[in-house]
Amino acid sequence: MRSLAAAILAAVLSVPALAAPPAPQADPCAKFAGQAFVVPADALACLKSFPFNETLRQNVMDNIDRVFDFFTFEDFYLNSPPPFQESTINIRAELARIRRTRFATDYDFNRAVYNFTTQLNDGHTRWFPDCFTTFQNLLPAPVVALEENGVQNVFVIPDLLDFIPLVGTEFTDHFAQIGFNWQRLAGAKVLEINGMDAFAYADLIAKTESGNFLDHGVRVNSVFSSYRISGSDFSQRFGDIAGPSFPDRDSLTMRLIPVNSTRPETVKIPFLASFVGAPFTDKASFWANNCAANENTNGIDLKTLRFSSARRATPKRARASIIDASQKKAVGLPGPFIPTAPPVDGSTGVIKSFILPDKKTGVMFVGSFEGDFEQFQTDTVAAVQQFKASGVTHLLIDLTNNGGGFVCLGQFLHQFLAGSQIGYPGFQSTNRANPLAQKILAADIALGNDDTLTFYSPDNFAFLNDTQFPLTHNYNNPDVVLKTNGVNDPTSQRFHDICTPFQVPIPATPPFDLRNVAIVSNGNCASTCAMFSTLMFERHQTKIAIFGGKPGEILQYKGMAGNQVLEWADLDDEIKTAGVKSDPLAPPDLLVSANMRHNWRTAWSFLNERVPIAYESELPQFRFPYTKDTVSNPQNLWTFAASKLFK
Ligand SMILES: *[C@@H]1O[C@H](CO)[C@@H](O)[C@H](O)[C@H]1NC(C)=O
Ligand SMILES: *[C@@H]1O[C@H](CO)[C@@H](O)[C@H](O)[C@H]1NC(C)=O
Ligand SMILES: *[C@@H]1O[C@H](CO)[C@@H](O)[C@H](O)[C@H]1NC(C)=O
Ligand SMILES: *[C@@H]1O[C@H](CO)[C@@H](O)[C@H](O)[C@H]1NC(C)=O
Repeated sequence: MRSLAAAILAAVLSVPALAAPPAPQADPCAKFAGQAFVVPADALACLKSFPFNETLRQNVMDNIDRVFDFFTFEDFYLNSPPPFQESTINIRAELARIRRTRFATDYDFNRAVYNFTTQLNDGHTRWFPDCFTTFQNLLPAPVVALEENGVQNVFVIPDLLDFIPLVGTEFTDHFAQIGFNWQRLAGAKVLEINGMDAFAYADLIAKTESGNFLDHGVRVNSVFSSYRISGSDFSQRFGDIAGPSFPDRDSLTMRLIPVNSTRPETVKIPFLASFVGAPFTDKASFWANNCAANENTNGIDLKTLRFSSARRATPKRARASIIDASQKKAVGLPGPFIPTAPPVDGSTGVIKSFILPDKKTGVMFVGSFEGDFEQFQTDTVAAVQQFKASGVTHLLIDLTNNGGGFVCLGQFLHQFLAGSQIGYPGFQSTNRANPLAQKILAADIALGNDDTLTFYSPDNFAFLNDTQFPLTHNYNNPDVVLKTNGVNDPTSQRFHDICTPFQVPIPATPPFDLRNVAIVSNGNCASTCAMFSTLMFERHQTKIAIFGGKPGEILQYKGMAGNQVLEWADLDDEIKTAGVKSDPLAPPDLLVSANMRHNWRTAWSFLNERVPIAYESELPQFRFPYTKDTVSNPQNLWTFAASKLFK
C-alpha cells in the first residue's frame, strides 16, 4: 500500500516536468467580451489582470483622504453609540493602513478601499470604483426568512420558478447546460450556508458586505430577497447573499430540506456573474471604457458653462440617496405578485397607488424619491384626490427598499400629508466648516455664486425662522464647535432647507386623519426616505410596521439618515466653481473612473436637536415576520398590515 502511494505521488510530482511550456497569456477579458453572463472565475481573472499601480493608489488615497474632511459623521465613528457599535472604525487609521498595505493587483487595492467604506455602513459615504463594480454575482437560489407555524427559518424563495426565468434565458441556459437543477430548490428550508447556521451566515454578510445602513438589523434584511420598485417598475431584489457585487465566490454550499422531503441534503449551488459594466472587446478596451477617468469623473467650474448646456440647465437639487448596485440590471417582480387591485391615478412613476379590496384603505407604494421632481408631486395629488373621491379613509405608505432621492420630495410628502399648518417640514441641518469648506463658502460669497451654480452658496438655505440667507451671509463665520467623542469639529451654523413653494398646492390640513396613516417597510429606507419616515414618526407619531429581520435582534424603522450627499464630481464642482482647486487641501482629480461620495450635511433630530437623526435609535411600534404569503407579494402584505394597523 505504502509503496503504491509513493509511486502515485512520484507520478503526480513528475507531471510538471513532462507538461508543455505554458502558452502565451491569453487576454482574460477578451475571453468573455460581449457576454451578458460569465462564470465568476473568468470574471475575476479579468478584474485581477490589472497590476497594482502605486501612482493610482496615491491619487485615490489623496482624493479620499481629503474628501473625508467633508464627511459630517467622521468623529462619530471613533466610538459609534449604541446600538450602532458595529460601525466603530478609526477612519484615518484605516486610510493610513491601506496606504501602507502591499497589494498584488489594482483590484485588491480597490477592494480594500471598497471594503473599508462599505463597513462604515453609511450608504452616502462609499468608494465605487467603476472598473471593479462591473459584475453582480447571481445565485439561482435567493433566500428569505419566513415564519411558519410560529417559527422563523431561512428558505429559498418560494417564487423561485417564477423569478429566476426573469433573469433571462442566457442565465437559465447556463444552468441547464451544466446540469444544475435549481428548480427543485424552490421553497427549500435552508439549515446551513457554507457550514454556518443560516441565520448566522445572514448576520455575517450583514456585518461584512451589505453596508449602507448603520443598523445591523436593517442590513440583515438587505441580505434577503425582497420586493421593490426599481425606476418605475415592480422588481425583486436578489438580496446580498444571492446577489453580491463581486464575482469572488464560485458557489455557496447549503444544507437544506427540499419541499416534499424530510431529509436534509447538502447542495453546492453555483454562482453565475452578470456583467453590468460598459461594453468592451479586450483587456485594453475594458480598461478604457470602465476604468480610466472620463469626462464625468471629476467636476468642472460651472461658471464656464453656457446656460444652455445640459449640466447647467438642470436645476441643482439636493439629493440624499444610496447607490444600490443591484439596480444596474434589475429583475422584475414575478407576474403573480404584481398587485391586482386596480391602480389609482398617478401611478406611472416611482409611486404606485392602489385601493385595497376593503375599499377603505389606500396604498401608496413610494419606491423612491427619485425620478421626475414635479411628477412625484402631481402623482401624489392625483392619488390622494382619487382616494378621497372613492371614500378611502386610511392610508398605508409602503417604503420597502426606498433608497431615497430628492431631499425636498421627502419634505413635500411630509407637508402634503400633514398640511401647511405644520410650518417648516424638515430638519435643522449643518455641514462641516473645515478650512477648505470655509474657503469655498467665502469665495462663493466674494464671486456672487448663487444656488443655480453651487450647493455652498448661502441662498440654498434659510435661518431657523425660514428667512432665506442673503447671498452675503457667511454661515461658517463664526463656526460652531461640535464636540463628538472628544474631538472638536468646526461646524456651520444651523440652517433650514428651502423647499417651498412646492410645485402643487399644499392642503392647509391633513387630507387623512394622521391617526389613520401608517407606514410599512423592511427598514431598507435610506436617506430622504429615512428623513421622511423620521418626520412622520417624530412629529406625528405615525404607526410604523417593519417586516423581517432576524428573530431576537432589534431592527430600526429607518436605514441611514444623512441630510444631503455629494458625489465626488459634485464636491469637485463646488471646489472648482469657487476657484479653490489649487489649494493644497483640495482633493486631486481622480485618474480612474470612480466615485468617492460622502454625507455632506447632517439632519438633527426633532426630538433631540443635539443628536443627528442617523444616530437616534428609533424602533418601530410594530414588527412582523414575513410569511410565504407576504414575502414577495406586496398586496398580500398590505392587506395583512391594514388588518393589524387599522383595527
Ligand atoms: C500607473 O498609472 C499611471 C496613471 O494612469 C500611468 O501613467 C503609469 O504608466 C502606470 N504605471 C505602470 C507601471 O503601469
Ligand atoms: C473584502 O471583504 C470580503 C468580504 O468580507 C473579503 O472576502 C475580502 O477578502 C476583503 N478583501 C480585502 C482586500 O480586504
Ligand atoms: C411537492 O409536491 C406537490 C404534490 O405532489 C407538488 O404539486 C409540488 O410540485 C411539489 N413541489 C416540489 C418543489 O417538488
Ligand atoms: C429671521 O432671522 C434672521 C436672523 O436672526 C433675522 O435677521 C431676520 O430678520 C428674521 N426674519 C424674520 C422675518 O423674522
